Amino acid sequence: MDLPVGVQASELLSSQAHIWNHIFNFINSMSLKCAVQLGIPDIIHNHGKPMSLPDLVQALPIKKVKAPCIYRLMRILIHSGFFTKQKTLENGEEEDGYTLTPASCLLLKDEPFSVAPFLLAMLDPILTDPFHFMSEWFQNDHKTPFEMAHGRTLWDYAGNEPRLNKFFNDAMASDTRLITSMVIKECAGVFEGLNSLVDAGGGTGTMAKAIADAFPPMKCSVLELPHVVADLEGSDKLEFVAGDMFEAIPCADAVLLKWIMHDWNDEECLKILKRCKEAIPCKGMGGKVIIIDIVLDIQKEDAESTETQLCFDMLMMATITGRERNGKEWEKLFLDAGFSDYKIAPIMGLRSIIEVYP
Ligand SMILES: C[S@@+](CC[C@H](N)C(=O)[O-])C[C@H]1O[C@@H](n2cnc3c(N)ncnc32)[C@H](O)[C@@H]1O
Repeated sequence: MDLPVGVQASELLSSQAHIWNHIFNFINSMSLKCAVQLGIPDIIHNHGKPMSLPDLVQALPIKKVKAPCIYRLMRILIHSGFFTKQKTLENGEEEDGYTLTPASCLLLKDEPFSVAPFLLAMLDPILTDPFHFMSEWFQNDHKTPFEMAHGRTLWDYAGNEPRLNKFFNDAMASDTRLITSMVIKECAGVFEGLNSLVDAGGGTGTMAKAIADAFPPMKCSVLELPHVVADLEGSDKLEFVAGDMFEAIPCADAVLLKWIMHDWNDEECLKILKRCKEAIPCKGMGGKVIIIDIVLDIQKEDAESTETQLCFDMLMMATITGRERNGKEWEKLFLDAGFSDYKIAPIMGLRSIIEVYP
């Protein structure tokens, strides 16, 4: 068959390669998941120097017959920036050894800011299956692809499936550990002067605990669904409250919503914001809502950051009713919910901290 008129062979081949790369993007994710599940970053880290392929294979909990495949797994992960190869002297002979990169250092299990729990959660079939239902979902009346895949909402499922509840809470806590240290360091002014704060949908309390510790005499509470906080014990500075943020939020000087608003559609967000407004002191009395979430288009992003933000938006579409929002969309929500002013500080990589005033 002839090429279409005006189309160069090179153009056709590069279009085909572009499509192939998109078809196979999931192989990058799954190769990384495999490496984390096998403990490869930790094994290389604990080796203390560049690790040769035979040493790595020896240390891995794998069948000997599969050993030759480790080289191929490492090859794609070197290509995607998770490992490098360095020359090392082994028994007087120079050989190649694997080392970590800054990205794989963040996948070490005992690293306080480890992203490994988030990776394992997001790539669990419970959260990836809904993507197989997306085109059908566009054509039917289901609320989310997640509900098509699993017959209930993410939150209902988490309340009934302890494995999901655990890996989801662990994933959120791991992200929160990383963000919290930045928030406390870079945004201390946002919390100074507050005597009380409710972290609504605050997971297992990672952020609330860190804020209570960093800003005495502030007392914090975490309002969460019963299955998340059932077994958690508070302290004199931190209280866990089982409840529903659509019903009522305990009163406090400030309500914190981290990664909450992007979980919900505009109508649902308005309800949450109204409950927040009822919970905080009125205008001029120092009350505020503090939101940590993505604000699209707020600053000039590089292509990789834009892609991450757009992927989060699709994740919200596939799993829950939420979405990512730009500055204008955030503003509309705040004004519609009866707030008078807000301030956005895009200081946390892909996410911003937004203060909203009654
Ligand atoms: C994306 S997670 C964010 C968790 C935490 N804020 C963080 O960033 O680590 C959303 C949280 O909202 C909680 N949640 C969902 N519906 C809720 C409701 N109606 N009332 C209170 N919490 C709710 C979930 O259990 C979950 O922990």
